[in-house]
Amino acid sequence: MKKLSIVIFLITLISSNELFAQTNNESVDNKIEKIIKQLTLKEKLDMCHAQSKFSSKGVARLGIPELWMSDGPHGVRTEIDWDTWSHAGWTNDSCTAFPALTCLAASFNPDLSYKYGKALGEEARYRKKDIILGPGVNIYRTPLNGRNFEYMGEDPYLASKMVVPYIHGVQENGVAACVKHYVLNNQEHWRDHINVELSDRALYEIYLPAFKAAVQEGHVWSLMGAYNQVRGQYCCHNEFLVNKILKKDWEFDGVLVTDWGATHDTKQAALYGLDLEMGTGTDGLTSSLKNAYDNYFMANPLLKMVESGEINESVIDEKVERILRLMFRTNMNKTRPFGSMNSQQHFDVAREIAQEGIVLLKNKNKFFPIDPEKVQTIAVIGENATKMMSLGGGSSELKTIHEISPLEGIQKRFKNATILHAMGYASGPSVYGKVIDSKLNADSLKNEAIKIAAKADIVLFVGGLNKNHHQDCEGDDRKSFSLPFGQDDLLSEILKVNKNTAVVLVSGNAVKMPWVNQVKGIVQTWYLGSESGNALADVLSGDVNPSGKLPFSFPVKLEDNAAHSFGEISYPGDGTKQEYKEDILVGYRWFDTKKIKPLYAFGFGLSYSEFDMTKASVNKKEYKSGDVISVSCEMKNTGKVKGKEVIQVYVNDVKSSVLRPLKELKAFKKVSLNSGESKTVNIEIPVNKLAFYDDVKKDWKLEPGQFKLMLGTSSKNISKTIIIEVE
Ligand code: GLC
Repeated sequence: MKKLSIVIFLITLISSNELFAQTNNESVDNKIEKIIKQLTLKEKLDMCHAQSKFSSKGVARLGIPELWMSDGPHGVRTEIDWDTWSHAGWTNDSCTAFPALTCLAASFNPDLSYKYGKALGEEARYRKKDIILGPGVNIYRTPLNGRNFEYMGEDPYLASKMVVPYIHGVQENGVAACVKHYVLNNQEHWRDHINVELSDRALYEIYLPAFKAAVQEGHVWSLMGAYNQVRGQYCCHNEFLVNKILKKDWEFDGVLVTDWGATHDTKQAALYGLDLEMGTGTDGLTSSLKNAYDNYFMANPLLKMVESGEINESVIDEKVERILRLMFRTNMNKTRPFGSMNSQQHFDVAREIAQEGIVLLKNKNKFFPIDPEKVQTIAVIGENATKMMSLGGGSSELKTIHEISPLEGIQKRFKNATILHAMGYASGPSVYGKVIDSKLNADSLKNEAIKIAAKADIVLFVGGLNKNHHQDCEGDDRKSFSLPFGQDDLLSEILKVNKNTAVVLVSGNAVKMPWVNQVKGIVQTWYLGSESGNALADVLSGDVNPSGKLPFSFPVKLEDNAAHSFGEISYPGDGTKQEYKEDILVGYRWFDTKKIKPLYAFGFGLSYSEFDMTKASVNKKEYKSGDVISVSCEMKNTGKVKGKEVIQVYVNDVKSSVLRPLKELKAFKKVSLNSGESKTVNIEIPVNKLAFYDDVKKDWKLEPGQFKLMLGTSSKNISKTIIIEVE
């Protein structure tokens, strides 16, 4: 008997250990399956829509936590009210403001993308957010788009390379990145309904690649559907974009979240891939019961459809499965780190990205750098020298621990000089959704500026755009390509009294530059976040040698831009529909093919040093599909100071059966070189990346024949050309 009881005990022990072990190591999928079996239909649906402005329900009785999310791409937004867009008034939610994503893209440095994502993810984790609502990768199609500052430029390859490390960095913290806005949200005007029509080639070759990279290489855990329609269906429940491309072709296993208020139909939301409905009615319980969370499209209306049998409950289970998978990666992941916030290390990362993203566009007679020991009097003129730019701009707004203004940065670094300052012009308060003019007297502001300009050795005009409505701001677009608030006139007056004038542009978009030939220097500085002034002064003083490159072209005039070359139906559309008539010729692809000279080209940026590409070669002359092209070139720093240069490799299909751009960026690499130093730079390009999207075959096609590899340091400055043969 004794023996038998021992045997039974041992079997029990093993089985329970086995069970225990199995529970511990049990696959997430099994755990998810078990959980779903325990949920009521109401509990399942509650997980698929908002319970507040920025959270969705868990299942309290089972200990499944709520999901908390926050904007945005450049930092963790201040806490928002439960039911309204107002700030909750917390005092523990000031953050590090990182540079805008145009600046990160301009660095052409994927290592900085990783650092950016990691630091942002640490702050989001520390603020107990499970999803950070960024990055944005919508392609720069028009210089008027109010949100270009939040995105990564006009080239699909650059955006694809820069978005992946950012996502890895964020998600290492057990926080989900949420790549947005999927897809074709390339303007703010009429964003909530405009129906975009375009060719498959433009869709696959220009607008999808960055999202595809985010999913297939970044393994992003969530993705935000855009407000607009594509080919007649809203993006957040779009059979072609979501069921076919995102979830079937790309095998996306994460959660599709709506933009706030971007859901329009219960049945489509159920059947066309929407997983998590946020912001419907946008003001929760406050404005009317109609907006109550139980009245959301995927709440009671969907409950009724499932109960009536119109929608199968398995459709809901698939959504809950994705949401639970995201939870096991985030708020049900017991091993995720604890995050950190506002550390010196985060401010250092913000400063480093700002330093490397600043683009030197003009530097006549080596106007820059300005020697802090020699310069006597600097007049710093312009509202952007002091205006806080981490505020405003819409959902990417931030409440930051500090934002060093350009003026402060210049005063600190040039402490031996006399720094004069005048506002010069005024824009008025930053109010979401409307423009309020300044009450200050424009003439007296102008006269004050001219007075100090006349007395200075050097004038730094710090102007550009700002985060006000109809500027670089969500919700609508710019109304003009020119600098606003009378800056062009002011600048021409200043130039009359002082030729020694340079322009520092604080903006997230290209602008018209009628003064481009009169000024001595031009620095494009983006929105640089907490360390703005320090990073600017680092570059102006020569402490840092600028190495940024333009992530989008600067046209001479708006009409030179592709989207503005096909009338209203192309931009902004006719109020209902919009046609991308430029097709695949976006940005430099347009300028090259139409032989229009841009003011400043994609990929352009000066240095305080000079670089020479001495030789270039490839590993073979002929390539087969599946091969990798190994390009190598010799870069020499022929200047007097250490610097970084970005080698860019563009490709042209010499003879193809379809229209292809004169050049397309297919690789880039940033290298650091001491003065006089030479380095061999090796770059690899998979041959299959030379293909175009064949919208007849509905697949990528690599046509045999000659391809031209063009190596250079901007899309306009090609140093070496190599012809290869693809069989
Ligand atoms: C906004 C934006 C989106 C943001 C969301 C929440 O409308 O389009 O980028 O994340 O709503 O604020």
